[in-house]
Amino acid sequence: MPQQDRIGLRIGFIGAGRVAKGLAWGLAQGGESVVAAASRDPASAAQLAARISGCRAAATAQDVIDGSDLVFVTVPDDAIAAVADSLNWRKDLAVVHCSGATEVAALASAARAGARIGGFHPLQLFADPDVALAGLPGCTVAIEAEEPLLGRLEQLAQALRCRTIRLPPGCRARYHAAAHYAAGFVITLLNEAVELWRSFGVEREDTIRALLPLLRGTAASVERSGLAQGLAGTYSRGDIGTLEKHLADLARFGPDALHLYCELGLRSIPLGLERGAYDAQRADAMRALLQRALNS
Ligand SMILES: NC(=O)c1ccc[n+]([C@@H]2O[C@H](COP(=O)([O-])OP(=O)(O)OC[C@H]3O[C@@H](n4cnc5c(N)ncnc54)[C@H](OP(=O)(O)O)[C@@H]3O)[C@@H](O)[C@H]2O)c1
Repeated sequence: MPQQDRIGLRIGFIGAGRVAKGLAWGLAQGGESVVAAASRDPASAAQLAARISGCRAAATAQDVIDGSDLVFVTVPDDAIAAVADSLNWRKDLAVVHCSGATEVAALASAARAGARIGGFHPLQLFADPDVALAGLPGCTVAIEAEEPLLGRLEQLAQALRCRTIRLPPGCRARYHAAAHYAAGFVITLLNEAVELWRSFGVEREDTIRALLPLLRGTAASVERSGLAQGLAGTYSRGDIGTLEKHLADLARFGPDALHLYCELGLRSIPLGLERGAYDAQRADAMRALLQRALNS
């Protein structure tokens, strides 16, 4: 990244786990000054610092604060407030955490000391630090802060080659809950398919192998064409005969599977309508079938 685009702050990390290492290494590669890290286990901080020239493993979290202008508190969510409350902050500091669901107010003790506080949540799964580093470019960072920190954090996201969205105060839990629909809940839905196919003898691994290309195709279709035009299958066409077959079979399989299917089906109809593949009358007929099965 060009020198003039650097935010020019000394950046420190308290908590040197997967996200801290990924961010610190990425920021250093982007030309930012990552100067210090501390963690519960000194070995974690040493690992983070070892890959950044000019970065030191600090003996304590307070050391990090004292030598930094911007501090990332990258400890587990439940420890953020306790860690923040245990330290001495100062008014020319900026302090952020990287949790999706935790309110920025977890850093209130830093704000009381006059520091600017914010949230910097990279919307990606980080299984280990190198996965974190590799997964950052192209992902979105959700940023909550007031100016001038907001602009600085957006610059940092650019240094990581990430996109940004701004989160207004008070909406983090909803933001985080929604992200499950593109992450953990996809796995929950795959597990639902595993159970259905198991009923006629297909093993879990074979089901996953069979459905993964479909999942990748679905993601590619959304990327290429958007939600409505990317929709495929029964609800993209309004195939009422096929829908009736699904409902009759799932009613025999069990009420849980039937109800989940109906809830998802009802939410798919607006996308089919938006796609322009069928009219409101057909949509109403599909809704009526699904609603009747849901109430059965
Ligand atoms: N992993 C993800 O996919 C992901 C994605 C986006 C955001 N986040 C967020 O990023 C933050 C960090 O998550 P992570 O996945 O990086 O967690 P992690 O890998 O478990 O790392 C947390 C680090 O904090 C250190 N630590 C724990 N308690 C501490 C304390 N009291 N004082 C100082 N250091 C302490 C840990 O201990 P040691 O020093 O013993 O190693 C560890 O190095 C969380 O807020 C999380 O919600 C995670």
